[in-house]
Amino acid sequence: MKSRYFLILLIIASTVGISFSIAQPTERNKPSKHWLLDVENDTERFARLETYLRGFDQPMWEVGHRYEMVYDAIVNNNYELASYHWRKIKTTIKNGYLKRPARKFSADSMFLQSNVWASLEAALQSNDPKKIKKAFSVARKTCMGCHVVEKVPFMNNQKMFHRTESFPESNESKLRN
Ligand code: HEC
Repeated sequence: MKSRYFLILLIIASTVGISFSIAQPTERNKPSKHWLLDVENDTERFARLETYLRGFDQPMWEVGHRYEMVYDAIVNNNYELASYHWRKIKTTIKNGYLKRPARKFSADSMFLQSNVWASLEAALQSNDPKKIKKAFSVARKTCMGCHVVEKVPFMNNQKMFHRTESFPESNESKLRN
């Protein structure tokens, strides 16, 4: 009797063991990590990179984040930090229209070459809070204006544009505490 139980146990144990070893992927059939090197040729590689690097949305995502950083830095009287992000915004918009040249005309004529970008940069260098806030306000309106011209006006109805509409009365920022 005992030996029969033992035999059954042995059969169960070996079945479980076999199916477990089947379920484990071997080195050979592990999914590859080389999503660029594995494909046939450079054309396919560049096509994958183009897809991966996206269009205008991803640079704008970064611009939006840095825009909020600019605002917060101004509130916090950290004009060097504000200027740092403001300069990155310029680079990011240019990288954006490198990918989507259809956006270049609006970006240049409204924002980068229209003096809007340069005015805030100059104001930040001047350390003059009045000038800085005025130039920021013009820049904010220009971001929003481009969204209208480029047919994405819904972009403007979001927290980042609402909360940056004005500056707190006192520059003694809560952020610093
Ligand atoms: C060329 C004109 C243009 C300018 C200038 C511009 N935007 Fe945009 N923005 C767009 C377009 C177009 C989209 C939608 C992109 C898409 O559909 O792929 C967009 C999308 C966005 C988004 C959404 C990104 C996402 O997918 O999460 C944010 C946030 C944003 N913009 C913020 C800003 C801010 C802040 C500024 C100013 C500092 C600014 N934009 C200046 C044209 C512009």
